[in-house]
Amino acid sequence: MTGDLFADIEPGQSWREELAAGAVVLRRYALPWDEALFAALGVLTDKAPFRHMVTPGGFDMSVAMSNCGRLGWVTDRSGYRYDTHDPQTGLPWPAMPTAFVEMARSAADAAGFSGFAPDACLINRYAPGAKLSLHQDKDELDLAAPIVSVSLGVPATFLFGGCQRADKCARVPLAHGDVVVWGGPARLRYHGVLPIKAAHHPATGSHRINLTFRKVR
Ligand code: SIN
Ligand code: FE2
Repeated sequence: MTGDLFADIEPGQSWREELAAGAVVLRRYALPWDEALFAALGVLTDKAPFRHMVTPGGFDMSVAMSNCGRLGWVTDRSGYRYDTHDPQTGLPWPAMPTAFVEMARSAADAAGFSGFAPDACLINRYAPGAKLSLHQDKDELDLAAPIVSVSLGVPATFLFGGCQRADKCARVPLAHGDVVVWGGPARLRYHGVLPIKAAHHPATGSHRINLTFRKVR
C-alpha cells in the first residue's frame, strides 16, 4: 500500500524520520540506486546463492541469506561468526559491488556518520512468513561504525527496541528503498523483523530483500 502511495516520488527525493539518538530512517533513500542494486544482486547471488543457515540451536533460519564483501556473516551448529569464505562453495564471498558501497556510504553520510567503509554486507531474503527475531548486531569488532540497512521489495514491519531485550519496541513500517541507519548511542539497540505478509513487488515478486552493511574490523 505504502509503495503505491509513493510510487511517483521523484528520483532522489527522500525524507528522514528520527527513531532515537543515533538512529534514523531515510525514506526511499535507495531508490536512485535500485536498478543498479538489483543488477549487481543477480550476479553475486549466482556466485553465492541464497541459503537457509542453521542456528547454533539447530534450527533452520526462515530468512535465506547470502553475503558480499571481504567478510560474510555465517551461522551453523558451532555458532555465529564472520568468515572470508562462503562455507557452501569454499570460495571467497563475492566483492561488494560499487553501487552497494556508494549507496551505503552516502546513506551513512546523510545520517551523520561520515567515512563509512563497510567490509561486510549480509543479504537477507524474506519469503512470506519469514521473520527475524529480536537481536543485537554485536559480532562486529568495530562498534564505532553504524549499521546501514536497506529494504527492497515487499514491505516489512521493523522492530526497533532499546539496549535491553525487554525494552519496548517501536514498530517501523519499511517500504522499498527505505534505509535505516543506527550507530553511536543506538549501535547496540535490539531490532528484528515481524513475519512478512503476502504481497507483490514488481522487482522482487513476493520477496523482501534486505542489505545490511557493517564494518566488522
Ligand atoms: C538484520 O538485522 O540483519 C536485518 C534487518 C532487516 O531485515 O531489516
Ligand atoms: Fe541485525
